[in-house]
Amino acid sequence: MKFALFREYRNIRSFFTRYITFLKDVVGDTHLDVGCGFGTIPFLIACCWPNTKVIGIEVDKKMISWGKARYGHLPNLKLLKYGIDELKIEVGSISCINVLHHADDHINVLEHIRRLLKRRGRVFIREFVRVKDGEMRRIYENTVKEYRKYGVRLCGDVANFDIWYKIHSRWSERELRCLLGKFFKPLAIRCFGHDFYFVGEKR
Ligand SMILES: C[S@@+](CC[C@H](N)C(=O)[O-])C[C@H]1O[C@@H](n2cnc3c(N)ncnc32)[C@H](O)[C@@H]1O
Repeated sequence: MKFALFREYRNIRSFFTRYITFLKDVVGDTHLDVGCGFGTIPFLIACCWPNTKVIGIEVDKKMISWGKARYGHLPNLKLLKYGIDELKIEVGSISCINVLHHADDHINVLEHIRRLLKRRGRVFIREFVRVKDGEMRRIYENTVKEYRKYGVRLCGDVANFDIWYKIHSRWSERELRCLLGKFFKPLAIRCFGHDFYFVGEKR
């Protein structure tokens, strides 16, 4: 099952394989994916954890409609057009993947993640950290190459290096550790160059 899935979603296979190594210590009986975009990540989580009720929320109406049409058949997955501040539920675990650096108010998003988690519920956050300028340029060029390889149209921040750079260099590793540590008890933190992963627990 997982193999067939990964063949179809080969463009995100390398990311998702890494996410799973963190998510396996996070996903509870009800899982929320915040800022799910087209819903592919909550879809893959729902496939890998069939006994978990998975909810994906996204503020962009078009993205969520696309996701519903494509993944709506899965019984343990719900995709909803919601901002995190509108939700009134309690969940056992939350993932927030590549969202904070796009959020106008990341503090607000973190506060809501904490509000929605059950006591001792776990969170998985994937973010980007600032590295040397030359390395940032190389990462940007690789991202563009990947987009082209899979026929994805260059849009938003990816279409322009200066905008991409500004968004993706928002925090250093130290700043991000400090910020997330104020909201959650850190259980695991890994940083591979520009890629930052955090698993935390609601205190
Ligand atoms: C870069 S995309 C990441 C999508 C997906 N998580 C992924 O990694 O493929 C960030 C998404 O977060 C959404 N977003 C930003 N702030 C949000 C909020 N407060 N509530 C829900 N979604 C939000 C944006 O609309 C955008 O689609």
